[in-house]
Amino acid sequence: MASAREHVWVSIRVRPLLEAETARQEEECWEASGSGLLRCTQHGAANTALSFDQVFPTDISPDELYAACRERVQSSLQGINSTLFCYGQTGSGKTYTMRQLISLATADIFDTISNLPHREFTLRASALEIYNERVRDLLKNHSENQDLEVQDTRGKVKDLTLQPISSAAGLEQLVNISCARRTTRDTRINVTSSRSHQVIQVHIESRDAHATSPTPIVESPTRNGATEEAEDGLASSERGLEDPRPVTSAVLTFVDLAGSERVSSAALEDSNQRTRLLEGSTINKSLLTLGSVFRALGDASSSASKGATVYVAYRDSKLTRVLKPSLEGKGRLAVVCCISPAAGALDNTRSTLHFAEQARRVAVVPTVNVTVTQAAELRRLRAANAALQKQLDCKQFGREVVELRKSVAQLRKEVTSLGAERDAAKEKVRELEEELALSDASSQYTDQDPPDASSSIPTRPPSKAREVLCARRSGEVALVWSEGGMSARRRAG
Ligand SMILES: Nc1ncnc2c1ncn2[C@@H]1O[C@H](COP(=O)(O)OP(=O)(O)OP(=O)(O)O)[C@@H](O)[C@H]1O
Ligand SMILES: [Mg+2]
Repeated sequence: MASAREHVWVSIRVRPLLEAETARQEEECWEASGSGLLRCTQHGAANTALSFDQVFPTDISPDELYAACRERVQSSLQGINSTLFCYGQTGSGKTYTMRQLISLATADIFDTISNLPHREFTLRASALEIYNERVRDLLKNHSENQDLEVQDTRGKVKDLTLQPISSAAGLEQLVNISCARRTTRDTRINVTSSRSHQVIQVHIESRDAHATSPTPIVESPTRNGATEEAEDGLASSERGLEDPRPVTSAVLTFVDLAGSERVSSAALEDSNQRTRLLEGSTINKSLLTLGSVFRALGDASSSASKGATVYVAYRDSKLTRVLKPSLEGKGRLAVVCCISPAAGALDNTRSTLHFAEQARRVAVVPTVNVTVTQAAELRRLRAANAALQKQLDCKQFGREVVELRKSVAQLRKEVTSLGAERDAAKEKVRELEEELALSDASSQYTDQDPPDASSSIPTRPPSKAREVLCARRSGEVALVWSEGGMSARRRAG
C-alpha cells in the first residue's frame, strides 16, 4: 500500500553560541530568516539565502522542533518505516537535538496508542552503536559482543537485543542505558563528543483489537512490503499461531551520527592520539559513504523517470548497511542538520549544508507494511473465490437466458409461418367445398320449371328451385340454387 512520492524532509537547526565560543568572541554568521530560509550574515558573504523544508532559529523550543518532525513519528504508528537523522559537525548539537526528539516522540507514541483502543500495539526496541566500523549492542555489555554481523540483504543485525517495551518510561530507560553505554570522548571541540554512530530502533506492530474467532491453520506470515525487522519484531509465539488478524508493522529509527571533524584539528597530542585518529578517520569515512549514498539516491530519484538504474554503495560502510532499509525509498526520512552559528565553524557548516542539499534531492514512496497471517490469507482467498464463483454463475445463467431468448424468437417465427399455412389450407378447403357444392347442385337441377331467361337472377330462389346449403364461412350460410341450367347464390341471414 504505497502513498504519494515525497522528498526527504530536510531541516536546519542553528544552535546558540556556546560559552567557549562566546569567550572567544566568535561572530555569529548564520540566521534563520523565516519560511525555510537560512542566510549567511558574515561580512562579505553573498547575500543569498539557502532554502530548506524548515530552518529552526537558535531559540526554538523542543516542542516546536518536535511538532515539525511529528508527522514522521506518527507515520510509524500507521505502518510506515520512518527515520529521523541528526547530522552535523562535532559539537553542532546532534546528540542534544536527538535526545529532545526521542523524549518527545516517546511521550507522543504512548499518548497516541492510549487514544487508539481499537488497535492492539506491540513495541520492541533495540539500540546499537557503530564504533570504528564495529557494530555493538548497547543493551548488552561491550565484552559480550564486539562486532555483530550485519546481514546484507535487509540490514538486519544478527543477535541484536530486541527488548519488549510497554510504557514510555520503559523506552526512556532503554534510551538512557544505551546513551550511557555509547562511546563518547572529550575532544578539543566537544567535551562529550559521540565517537560512534548510534541507531535506536522502535519496532511497532499493531492489529485490530477486536478478536476474531481463530481458524485452525498453522501460521506462516505472508509479507506485503514488510521489512524483515518488522516481521521479526513480533515472535510467532506472541503473534498467536492461529490469529487471522493482519499485522501492521513499522520501524521507527533514530540515528545520531558521530561528529565529523577534520582529523588533524581534533587529534590530541597525548597517549590516546592514535586511537582518536583512527576514530576520526573511520567516522569521516563512514560519513563520506553516507554522503555518497544520499548523492546516488538523489541521482536515482531524478533519473527514475528516465528508467536508469544507479549504483548505491550501501556496502561501503556498516552504517549504510544497517540503514539500508531506511534509505531504500519505502520509508519516510527526516534529517535535522545541526550547525554552529560561529564564524570559526564556517567551513564545516558549509559541508553540512552541502549534505543537506544532497539529502533533499532524494525521493521516497512511503509504503505501509502489512503482514498477513496464513489464516487471514486463507479467509481472504476463500471470500474472493466465492465472489468469483458467483460472478461466473451469473455469467453462465446470463448466457443460458440469451440462448433461450433466441430459441423463443425462432419458435415464434415458426408459429407465425405455420399459422399462415393453416389459413391458406383452410381457404383452399373452403374453395374446394364450394366447387363441390356447385357441381352437386347443378347435377340435381331439372328442366321441368325453367326460369325466365330474360329475368335477372332472383334474390330469392324460385319455388321449384332446390336450395342447397353449400358452404359455411364465418357464421354465414350461402344458399346456392340452380334454375334452367343457371346457378345463383345469395347469403342467408
Ligand atoms: N540547541 C542548543 N542549545 C543549547 N545548547 C546546545 C544546543 N545544541 C547543543 N548544545 C550544547 O552544545 C554542546 C555540543 O552538543 P552535542 O554534544 O549535542 O553536539 P554533537 O553534535 O552531538 O557533537 P559530537 O558530534 O561531537 O557528538 C553540548 O554541550 C550541548 O549541551
Ligand atoms: Mg554527539
